[in-house]
Amino acid sequence: MCGIVGYIGSRNAARVIVDGLQKLEYRGYDSFGVATNNPRIEVFKRKGKISEMGSDAWSLHGTIGIGHTRWATHGEPSDRNAHPHLDCRGRIAVVHNGIIENYAALTRELRERGHEFRSETDTEVVAHLVEEFYDGSDLRTAVEKTVARLEGSFALLVTVEGLEEVIAVRDSSPLVLGIGDREVFAASDVTPLLGYTERVVYLEDGDLATLDREGWRVYSHGHPVRRRVEHVDWDVETVKKGGFPHFMLKEIYEEPRVFHDTLHGFAASSLPERYRHPPEITVVACGSSYHAGLVFKYLCESTCRIPVRAELGSEFKYFTPPLKGIVTVITQSGETADTLAALKKARAYNCPTLAITNVLGSTVTRIADHTLYMRAGPEISVAATKSFVAQLAVLMRLIDLMRGNDRLLTALEQANTVIGEVLLLDIDRAVEICRPAEHLFYVGRGLFYPIALEGALKMKEISYIHAEGYAAGELKHGPFALLSDQTPVVALCPPGDTYSIMLSNIKEMKARKAPIIGIGASGDRELTDIVDVFLPIPESPELVQLVATSVVLQQLAYRTAVALECDVDQPRNLAKSVTVE
Ligand code: G6P
Repeated sequence: MCGIVGYIGSRNAARVIVDGLQKLEYRGYDSFGVATNNPRIEVFKRKGKISEMGSDAWSLHGTIGIGHTRWATHGEPSDRNAHPHLDCRGRIAVVHNGIIENYAALTRELRERGHEFRSETDTEVVAHLVEEFYDGSDLRTAVEKTVARLEGSFALLVTVEGLEEVIAVRDSSPLVLGIGDREVFAASDVTPLLGYTERVVYLEDGDLATLDREGWRVYSHGHPVRRRVEHVDWDVETVKKGGFPHFMLKEIYEEPRVFHDTLHGFAASSLPERYRHPPEITVVACGSSYHAGLVFKYLCESTCRIPVRAELGSEFKYFTPPLKGIVTVITQSGETADTLAALKKARAYNCPTLAITNVLGSTVTRIADHTLYMRAGPEISVAATKSFVAQLAVLMRLIDLMRGNDRLLTALEQANTVIGEVLLLDIDRAVEICRPAEHLFYVGRGLFYPIALEGALKMKEISYIHAEGYAAGELKHGPFALLSDQTPVVALCPPGDTYSIMLSNIKEMKARKAPIIGIGASGDRELTDIVDVFLPIPESPELVQLVATSVVLQQLAYRTAVALECDVDQPRNLAKSVTVE
């Protein structure tokens, strides 16, 4: 969702900020803007793409500035609602990520005091509040007083005319500082910093940082506090397309390595003893991460015989399940608001908590008792691909760690080779079937049911084709009414316990004239004969087939979206990191 970049140093601030905002594009946005402090405040903000208009902001002068990518929540996407927002006299500039929940009451109050508002956003109120409290020299105190009036979640950057300073505030929305040589950056995550510095400071909730010519300082509740400078080893090349037409394709091609690296990234000691024999596990996650959680449920219950409940982050806070055992949250970004809210609830229940994430220093790592990291590197495309297979790798390995053996590690040994092979599959005919469809079904059973859900999610989010994932046996309880020669079905039919019944289900769907794209084991003559298009997965253990099938479904979504000329990396209305509940 919204992204923030701030800078103070000796470079042209607008260029650094536009470059940083471009690296945050992946979070999803509809407008962007930059303000520089030179020492007058100069602003450029537009609805639209940074790639088309970002260079227009380079004409702003100065070496101090703040910038923002906006994903509209309050007020339509427009030039006027884009950040930065200014006070009445255009001397104070503010960018904000999050939601100011009490903005309506504050706006009323400030209007009565004569403040004039120019936008429909919740953010503008911050600029006017700072204006109320600013005495002409002490910006930090003015921002502290402002923050004391705000309810909600926010990461803020504030700068004021005539003062060589940027104030950064973090409260329930992520914010990091980048420490360079006589320059300091602030950003929503580390990607804008890559290529400038590897030294970062992860601010904590309630922190206020001052960035000026002397360096940076962090305060909490008005008192100076120490925050550790940490080292980030992500490479700047990972946030570039590297010759691929889209980040999504590049990230799919990274999957053999990502799966292998993640799988081998844990020693037996990676899981503390108290997580090994829980009476019960509750997994909470959103989107693709939730689907990975469902795979874990199936796998863990059948192999470890431990009851596992998989819950959606957005639902978890609206009921009070009887929690015992450990609560595991899965989140690529480590910043998904619903998942974080669930984690806090689990902590309130005194459950040991375990986080699985891709992002070092992300909020989830600060709240959970223990973290297991995926080794996917930065994922830029909004649709999760390499992070999903990395989550599968962590979760499969987690089962080994709980059982104290390497059984799954051994079974998955050739996974990267098989993933590499399915990247080369010819899926043209399958794409031709999906491309004109208005509705698609994805069906699977057992472990492959969550994979069907994930395949359908991928297809709908990037190609805008309505796709439904179903447990194959459930199709007869309603969706069968929709089957016709216009509703193709992607059927996951691996060898194993569910094979025969899947085959029967496919025949039933065929009898309703639904075109079938079947995915199964290479050499499966029976399946090949009944489906319209057969996509073979090389012979391999079931879990390898599972991962490889996910990769094929990602490619099917990708290729279909490209054929439909969709904006693959930044699908409409979606955000990579959903930081509001
Ligand atoms: C957004 C993204 C999805 C992702 C979900 C959960 O909706 O577009 O790709 O699966 O958030 O994100 P998380 O970072 O918590 O895994």
